[in-house]
Amino acid sequence: MLTLSLSFLFLVLLAALHQNAVLSCNKLDHDSLISFYQQISFAPATPLNWSPGIDCCQWEGLACTSDDNRHRRVTHLWLPERGLSGTIAPFLANLTFLSHLNLSSNHFSGPFPLTVFHSLHQLRALDLSSNQFNGSIDAVLLRGALNLITFNVSNNSFSGPIPSSICRGSPFLEILDFSMNKFSGQIVRGLGECSNLKVFRASLNSLSGYLPSDLYGVRTLAEISLSDNLFCGPIHSSIVLLSNLKILGLHVNELSGELPRDIGLLSNLEQLQLHTNSLNGTLPHSLMNCSNLKTLLLRNNHFGGEISVLDFSKLQRLQAVDLGNNSFVGNIPGSLCSCKALTAVRLAYNKLVGEIPPCMASLTSLTHLSLTNNYLSNVVGALKILRHCDDLAVLFMSRCFNDERVPDDNDLLHQTGFQNLQILTIGGCKLHGEIPSWIAKLRKLKVLNLSRNNISGPIPTWLGDMPCLFVLNLTQNFLFGNLPREIGHLEAMITDDTSSDLRPLALPFLYNTLQYNRLFNLARGLTLGNNNLSGNIPEELGRLKLLQLLELSNNKFNGSIPDKLSHLVNLERLDLSSNNLSGEIPKSLSELHFLSSFTVANNDLEGEIPRGGQFETFSATSFTGNPKFCGYPVKRSCSVSTQIDMKPYQQEEEDQGISWYGLPFGLGYSVGLVAVSISVLFNSCRRI
Ligand SMILES: *[C@@H]1O[C@H](CO)[C@@H](O)[C@H](O)[C@H]1NC(C)=O
Ligand SMILES: *[C@@H]1O[C@H](CO)[C@@H](O)[C@H](O)[C@H]1NC(C)=O
Ligand SMILES: *[C@@H]1O[C@H](CO)[C@@H](O)[C@H](O)[C@H]1NC(C)=O
Ligand SMILES: *[C@@H]1O[C@H](CO)[C@@H](O)[C@H](O)[C@H]1NC(C)=O
Ligand SMILES: *[C@@H]1O[C@H](CO)[C@@H](O)[C@H](O)[C@H]1NC(C)=O
Ligand SMILES: *[C@@H]1O[C@H](CO)[C@@H](O)[C@H](O)[C@H]1NC(C)=O
Ligand SMILES: *[C@@H]1O[C@H](CO)[C@@H](O)[C@H](O)[C@H]1NC(C)=O
Ligand SMILES: *[C@@H]1O[C@H](CO)[C@@H](O)[C@H](O)[C@H]1NC(C)=O
Ligand SMILES: *[C@@H]1O[C@H](CO)[C@@H](O)[C@H](O)[C@H]1NC(C)=O
Ligand SMILES: *[C@@H]1O[C@H](CO)[C@@H](O)[C@H](O)[C@H]1NC(C)=O
Ligand SMILES: *[C@@H]1O[C@H](CO)[C@@H](O)[C@H](O)[C@H]1NC(C)=O
Ligand SMILES: *[C@@H]1O[C@H](CO)[C@@H](O)[C@H](O)[C@H]1NC(C)=O
Repeated sequence: MLTLSLSFLFLVLLAALHQNAVLSCNKLDHDSLISFYQQISFAPATPLNWSPGIDCCQWEGLACTSDDNRHRRVTHLWLPERGLSGTIAPFLANLTFLSHLNLSSNHFSGPFPLTVFHSLHQLRALDLSSNQFNGSIDAVLLRGALNLITFNVSNNSFSGPIPSSICRGSPFLEILDFSMNKFSGQIVRGLGECSNLKVFRASLNSLSGYLPSDLYGVRTLAEISLSDNLFCGPIHSSIVLLSNLKILGLHVNELSGELPRDIGLLSNLEQLQLHTNSLNGTLPHSLMNCSNLKTLLLRNNHFGGEISVLDFSKLQRLQAVDLGNNSFVGNIPGSLCSCKALTAVRLAYNKLVGEIPPCMASLTSLTHLSLTNNYLSNVVGALKILRHCDDLAVLFMSRCFNDERVPDDNDLLHQTGFQNLQILTIGGCKLHGEIPSWIAKLRKLKVLNLSRNNISGPIPTWLGDMPCLFVLNLTQNFLFGNLPREIGHLEAMITDDTSSDLRPLALPFLYNTLQYNRLFNLARGLTLGNNNLSGNIPEELGRLKLLQLLELSNNKFNGSIPDKLSHLVNLERLDLSSNNLSGEIPKSLSELHFLSSFTVANNDLEGEIPRGGQFETFSATSFTGNPKFCGYPVKRSCSVSTQIDMKPYQQEEEDQGISWYGLPFGLGYSVGLVAVSISVLFNSCRRI
């Protein structure tokens, strides 16, 4: 009896507890959430674990006030990265205690019901980023969100103007992120009322007109990021009043005029990214007072003047500087050598003269240096200095020296250095001399570009021993002699070694520059065209099965095309034009499935042009200048000697065309084979 009553009591207690649990979630909140739930689509996501029988404060992604157990209200709706889609119902308006709404990184679409903000007076953080919400955002509709601090709608499809009067209703806003949407038009006055704003981002939209100058009155700002828009006009001088600014990103716009003279007042500035605009004038001396600068990117503008008058030594934290593609003149500033934190320096495409300052040898953190397209002198001195930069991985020095001698073994063979160098380009400098053997010591070298120089002598056999080399460009020099068979041993063109991936080297802020981008996507290639190389094409090249480009044009190679080239299964371009090659094109080359560009024009080749595979796509120009060729592309029958008047045979060719070439190319291989066998048959018949 006692047991019975005890267990009864227990049951009653349990029921009460359960009742209590359900009651602790406010009914209005509960019902509104259910309405919200009903518009969400879960496939392929797993449904939210929101069971009506359980206290909604326990549901996934929810949190409630903790003060009064009986009237707990929902404060957090936190469902980022949940794979959810569907639209948002206006019922959220009833969650009047909501302080955090985070739906970031889902697939929600349609317009967001802005009217809900009328009643969300407690809302502090709104994160709708990375969804597919669209429609415009009317600041008037946001007016109720009095306590909003964070507003992030980045990476959606919102359109229309930026709601610049947003702070009239939400005066405490600290973070505004409108990036990656379809906002357009000018930013009208209003942001000046955001007296607590720290971060303002609206990059990657279609905003136009002048920069919103009332923003310059918001002294709390630490970041302004408005890159990749259509802003024009100058950067107003009052921007220097933003003494808390750390990040200023205005790159890829149409800004013009000069940098504010007093920019040095921005003493907290860490990132100044103004590249790809139409800014002009000289760089103000005061820029060197921004002693916290880490990143200074000014490439692709119209800046000019001497940079050597600037004293970089105050920029002790500077890591990356890109002044490329401007009109800077004078010498490379020696004061750059004091910036010991430098990892990347790009001065390419300017009008700099003189020599590399010897003190650059002390830049031991430097990994990337680009000096391409300048008017420098003393390439020997440059390399003797830079070999001390132990971390140097990428060195671009094309078209920046002129008509000097190649830095030779006397200069560098008995020196150490460049042990981490992966890319060396000194093309287009008219350097004369031979390929120096100190290069053999660069054991990490992946890319060697000595194209368009006046280098003479042979291609050294030791090049074949370089363990990492996968791009060798010696185009347009005066190299002669045989192509050594040892080139067929280049390991990085034989086995796929992930260490040959250059990507880890890429610094994100430089990654966008075309020059680097192209490099990281470089095809494995041997480009030796426009030299005076002779002898046979070594069949050992067939071992380089990762090779994508093989370019041997405009040399004096003779003998036949090695059959083994058909082992180059990754080959995309093969250029053997303008040599003295003879014999037939190996039929096996038609097995190279990726070959999209092929030419053997201007040789002394003969016989029938192979059919099938990619050969169906090459036009007559790939074969011209070989009088002894026959086959469809050159419109010459293979049946008789080419000496005979062509006319009747062209006729015959057309007849054959029906059976050979009338077949759709889509049939691929079998067509090729049929074609070959028909022609073989045809030939033998005639010969009998
Ligand atoms: C919530 O709010 C909407 C509109 O604001 C209203 O129509 C609805 O009745 C409210 N109640 C629930 C349970 O959704
Ligand atoms: C929303 O959630 C994401 C993912 O957890 C988080 O990174 C982000 O900071 C949150 N947003 C806000 C405003 O707290
Ligand atoms: C806004 O959200 C995105 C992620 O979706 C995040 O990368 C970004 O940093 C956020 N903006 C701010 C200012 O925190
Ligand atoms: C933008 O959002 C999509 C999903 O909507 C996501 O896949 C992508 O990574 C986001 N991009 C950025 C830069 O956050
Ligand atoms: C928002 O997206 C929906 C589809 O998700 C579309 O039908 C609608 O026209 C869009 N609304 C606006 C205002 O762009
Ligand atoms: C800079 O460009 C503006 C026009 O955008 C022009 O008026 C000014 O003269 C230029 N200044 C210099 C130094 O070239
Ligand atoms: C740099 O700052 C110092 C004081 O910190 C000041 O004396 C000097 O005038 C400033 N230089 C420039 C060019 O603004
Ligand atoms: C230099 O900048 C101009 C725009 O100012 C651009 O058109 C050009 O492609 C750039 N050149 C290089 C080599 O980056
Ligand atoms: C090699 O240098 C030449 C300039 O002579 C340049 O045109 C070419 O793009 C460079 N290639 C690589 C891979 O650096
Ligand atoms: C090699 O150099 C030539 C001449 O400078 C250039 O045109 C070509 O693009 C380069 N090829 C590769 C693959 O780098
Ligand atoms: C380098 O080659 C160019 C073009 O062939 C030629 O005009 C020039 O005289 C050569 N210079 C030297 C120093 O050999
Ligand atoms: C190329 O080499 C041949 C000898 O093989 C030589 O007669 C000729 O002068 C050389 N041409 C050039 C342009 O160096």
